Amino acid sequence: MIYKRILLKISGEAMMGDKGYGIDSSTVDFIAKEIKGVVSRGVEVAVVIGGGNIFRGVEASVRGMERASADYMGMLATVINALALQNYLEKHGVPTRVQSAIEMKELAEPYIRRKAIRHLEKGRTIIFAAGTGNPYFTTDTAAALRAMEIGAEVILKATKVDGIYSSDPMKDFAAKKYNTVTYIDVLKRGLSIMDSTAVSLCMDNNLPIVVFNLRGKGNIRKIIEGKKIGTLVRGNNGARVKKKNR
Ligand code: GTP
Repeated sequence: MIYKRILLKISGEAMMGDKGYGIDSSTVDFIAKEIKGVVSRGVEVAVVIGGGNIFRGVEASVRGMERASADYMGMLATVINALALQNYLEKHGVPTRVQSAIEMKELAEPYIRRKAIRHLEKGRTIIFAAGTGNPYFTTDTAAALRAMEIGAEVILKATKVDGIYSSDPMKDFAAKKYNTVTYIDVLKRGLSIMDSTAVSLCMDNNLPIVVFNLRGKGNIRKIIEGKKIGTLVRGNNGARVKKKNR
């Protein structure tokens, strides 16, 4: 196993399957089983989940809603998804804790970094909800921030495609998949895998990102086993595993 502690970023859209809205139970069940597949091998897993299947702050602000309010609504959507994923993980016997960046004690623990790390050490999967707790930041940025805080060695960025392509593979048959790209390539060429704040944060801290297809059965397991799945985003030095800083 090449990674011991990972941060898995799942978009809200991944929770809706082909439904187009909300939470699709068989999809969330599949995601929970995929996570179980690596937790059972002793990998410590933290999850940051988006909320776009329920509410997209950016889109609402384009339609005239105040951006900060829209973003807070989006953060609440991530809490709904976090609780759904917790439920399915626990159904499969995976102990979990949800920590929310916005305090709502009745339904989740508040985000406390040291407590999150202890949970991971005890084999509990942590689901971080409510993004960074701040408007104007995406859940991708929350993923980068939390990964750094808990000393994760990699961010696994789950998507619907097999990795990063030269153009949109859904529209262009000639699109070429990259096995590896640098942070600078992602930023300069505007490869839209994560927003620039998230990518910059990873670049500044040399935290590798693997962009992969969540729908592929066993993909998370294969990545932690070192198989070449998806696209690896890293610096020029080629470091695949970030040195732990705990
Ligand atoms: P240890 O201290 O390592 O044993 O961790 P623990 O999480 O099992 O212990 P704790 O007594 O802190 O928590 C017991 C249960 O209460 C767990 O399911 C936690 O997720 C939950 N819990 C802890 N703090 C809070 C909180 O502030 N709000 C909510 N809603 N649940 C909490």
